[in-house]
Amino acid sequence: MKNILIEDIPKHLGKEIVLNVWVYNFRSSGKIYFLQLRDGTGHIQGVISKSDVSPNTWQVCEKLTIESSLQVTGILKEEKRSPSGFELEIKDLKIFQIAEDYPIAKKEHGVDFLLDHRHLWLRSERQASILKIRDEIIWLMRDFFRKNKFILTDTPILTPTSCEGTTTLFSTDYFDEKAYLSQSGQLYLEALAMSLGRVYDFGPTFRAEKSKTRRHMMEFWMLDAEAAFMQHEDNLKLQEDLVVFVVNNILKNKKEELRILGRDLKFLKKVTPPFPRLKYKEAIEKLKSLGSDIKYGDDLGADDETRLTKEFDKPVFVTHYPAKIKAFYMQPDPDNKEFVLCDDLLAPEGYGEIIGGSERIWDINILENRIKEHKLPIKDFAWYLDLRRYGSVPHSGFGIGLERTVAWLCGLDHVRETIPFPRLLNRLRP
Ligand code: 4AD
Ligand code: MG
Repeated sequence: MKNILIEDIPKHLGKEIVLNVWVYNFRSSGKIYFLQLRDGTGHIQGVISKSDVSPNTWQVCEKLTIESSLQVTGILKEEKRSPSGFELEIKDLKIFQIAEDYPIAKKEHGVDFLLDHRHLWLRSERQASILKIRDEIIWLMRDFFRKNKFILTDTPILTPTSCEGTTTLFSTDYFDEKAYLSQSGQLYLEALAMSLGRVYDFGPTFRAEKSKTRRHMMEFWMLDAEAAFMQHEDNLKLQEDLVVFVVNNILKNKKEELRILGRDLKFLKKVTPPFPRLKYKEAIEKLKSLGSDIKYGDDLGADDETRLTKEFDKPVFVTHYPAKIKAFYMQPDPDNKEFVLCDDLLAPEGYGEIIGGSERIWDINILENRIKEHKLPIKDFAWYLDLRRYGSVPHSGFGIGLERTVAWLCGLDHVRETIPFPRLLNRLRP
């Protein structure tokens, strides 16, 4: 007799099975115990009748508390009234450990309390559902890129330079010099694209953003994609295809988790191509007409993004930002050099930016000037300039933030629940 996972129980109907579980709730009538059991893969109700088990087993049962861990042996029965469709008629149980005074009760707790107890909060059905959707999104993105012939490769975390501006760098000592935690693997990915053609990386990225918003974290996971010979238009198409693929498959594969989260699916079902597009200039005009006090030349703030996305029922691209407010590496718009061939993809329902991308400057002189204008240390970019010296080609790419994507697809009001241990402004623990 083998221990099995709750997820696999349907094949064992009518048989005696052994499950390793935690008790997430229980009630008793004095003669019968109803145990709500979970093992990470699913939930099942276990029933123990005093008249069916030995006095010894009954005594063990009376010691059970919420989050106690145990091994149960019983017969798997069909039970139409239970959400799983099954019930376990328990014959025997063996305790691993009795949990005393589990701090997270059924009552409402404040967010700070829950975040302080994140190591336990993760056990809730809701948090586990979010993490399962996160896992599925990662697999889907990898699947998408593999189907599109992109090679998964890795970029460094410890770097000597910045990718996205010097104001949000985390620094650390690297023996006798300073190193910075990567803000994005993009620059290194560009080198890899010149070797492998189409590449992506996926890993943790870091930004010391003194922002306490529902979408900013200090440590978050980003997938950067980069392709040689790809230009602005194809870059947008790739992003659109990726998002449509992920959303469609989440709707298909994660029904139960979306139900547990109470996600309203009607919005997700509208995520079909093509996504509307606005140039930065048009976005500013639209925002002004909606009552924003944004001025031409300002970056879109979180409130502006929220306002703008509420005007559309699909993700929306904002393109052609002024070069002045974007990163140094973006290719100028051939029609007007004041702008760059970039895009932000804003998720609907007020979620805002989930992707940032652009065509990259591939002319060495333009790039060198930009590096100087941005007052970046040119010698640290010598290798990056080399890419424009030896067989330079047009190329483009983008980065998609995992946590913001998870927050949107799960319908959460804050990114703090999208990662097991969030690193937020003023929160490094647990
Ligand atoms: O728009 P960003 O800054 O773009 C880049 O870093 C490019 N180098 C990517 C590339 O072209 N390869 O960041 C990309 C995405 C954002 O759209 C957002 O989803 C996420 O990363 N992101 C954050 N997520 C959570 N907390 C933060 N502080 C984030 N900053 C960016
Ligand atoms: Mg951005």
